[in-house]
Amino acid sequence: KILILDFGSQYTQLIARAVREANVYCEIQPFSKSIEYGPELKGIILSGSPFSVNDENAPQVPVSSLVEKIPVLGICYGAQLTAKQFGGKVEKSNKREYGRAVLHLEKEDKLLDNLLPSSQVWMSHGDSILKLPEGFELLATTDSIPVAAFKLNATAKHPLYGLQFHPEVYHSIEGKKILHNFLVHTCGCSQDWTPAHFITDTIAALKKQIGDNKVVMAISGGVDSTVAATLISRAVGDKLHGIFVDNGVLRKDEYETVLKTYKKLGLNVKGIDAKDDFYKKLKGKTDPEKKRKAIGKLFIEIFQQEAKKIKGVSFLGQGTIYPDVIESVSVHGPSVTIKSHHNVGGLPKKMHLSLVEPLRNLFKDEVRKVGTELGIPEDMISRHPFPGPGLAIRILGEVTEEKVKLLQKADDIYVKALKDHNLYATVWQAGSILLPVRSVGVMGDERTYEFTVALRAVTSVDGMTADWAHLPYDFLANVSNDIINSVRGINRVVYDISSKPPATIEWE
Ligand code: XMP
Repeated sequence: KILILDFGSQYTQLIARAVREANVYCEIQPFSKSIEYGPELKGIILSGSPFSVNDENAPQVPVSSLVEKIPVLGICYGAQLTAKQFGGKVEKSNKREYGRAVLHLEKEDKLLDNLLPSSQVWMSHGDSILKLPEGFELLATTDSIPVAAFKLNATAKHPLYGLQFHPEVYHSIEGKKILHNFLVHTCGCSQDWTPAHFITDTIAALKKQIGDNKVVMAISGGVDSTVAATLISRAVGDKLHGIFVDNGVLRKDEYETVLKTYKKLGLNVKGIDAKDDFYKKLKGKTDPEKKRKAIGKLFIEIFQQEAKKIKGVSFLGQGTIYPDVIESVSVHGPSVTIKSHHNVGGLPKKMHLSLVEPLRNLFKDEVRKVGTELGIPEDMISRHPFPGPGLAIRILGEVTEEKVKLLQKADDIYVKALKDHNLYATVWQAGSILLPVRSVGVMGDERTYEFTVALRAVTSVDGMTADWAHLPYDFLANVSNDIINSVRGINRVVYDISSKPPATIEWE
């Protein structure tokens, strides 16, 4: 295992994903938390940070005592912290480096094995290491900074490296190789973190955890809950009781299709058609947060009611994934709530059940790989994220069954077209929004006065920031035509070209 100490960099999760991609298991923890050394811990990586090492309240870890115990790699801030603590000079230089730079190797070292003498790397720093401490060796430079990579010579018990650039980002062409060298050559990690291994280990662990008990779980048709449920089901079979609720604001035919897939996967899942109850609760509600709360509350009520019918349940299954549980290092203070995301997080406390969360240590891309290995169909694995409150937050204003039907039809045309034109996989999330605006149109000789649908498609990595997807004009023209010609009640289609920030992905 590799431990990544987080100093609050926006790239920390990228480091973890790059390590995992090398089939090495790693965890992230805040720099301030104490480290548990054990035989499985093979190395430590120090992340970047928005701080300067010269700031009064700069986050610190005693690098020299880490390297007494284990190999260490400092990245960006982590490298500067190392240099400064050992007596080097780190200062705001007049040459700040952001973006691409060319790395020139100065010295042979096993960290740089198999690298080209010069290659592109990605920089993002205001401070620079101007002088290395005594006993350190320079490994690489760039045209604008004297120290891009360094190493402590053999005086330390274990190797200590520093990199000014970010090997974890895509634009550092040889970054993955450097990380590989550190993980395999320096730390001696065996590269056995693979989906197949994960599945075998997890199923064994689930069997042990659950034993002869029963697990109840809300399943949504999304990737995470489907993969989690499949793992649990492989471990304990029908002792898993899945519950899939039709809240009336799912996509067109989704309830039926998803249930069918679950049957095929051999999951013990009960479908609950609660459409009417949800429509009743949504009646008269126009405020987005009130709609969210109403849906979340009713969902929990229904789930609890159903769970009670199953005798002797002691576990609650959940599709929690790693980004939900990483303790973040907050550098800007507590953040304000922009939208209250409804999920089943409130369930365990009320129900006195122990949690079963087989995906707790996985990133989303790893969940997908595990899902594929488990034989879950591709269209389920590659699904776009879909919000818990569903189409209710894509129908601006009051939600009615008629409006849901209208939006479902338009949305279905849009999503099918994206798939048919091989565009679905190129965007991170896509959907349609029904605007509470009617406008005049003309069809044949008749005047129409109907609703407008907005199409949204974004590219993103994690949904935190997003750009609008540049879908081809011809494609948009065809979709617009199809929707207006075949969905009665819609006479205008617009495309949303706002990025996040300042907009958000959903309109409510
Ligand atoms: P925003 O609109 O905040 O969306 O840019 C970011 C991501 O979160 C999803 N989202 C939700 N998911 N319950 C959910 O489960 C919600 O209330 C909710 N609101 C937004 C959104 O679909 C996007 O993927």
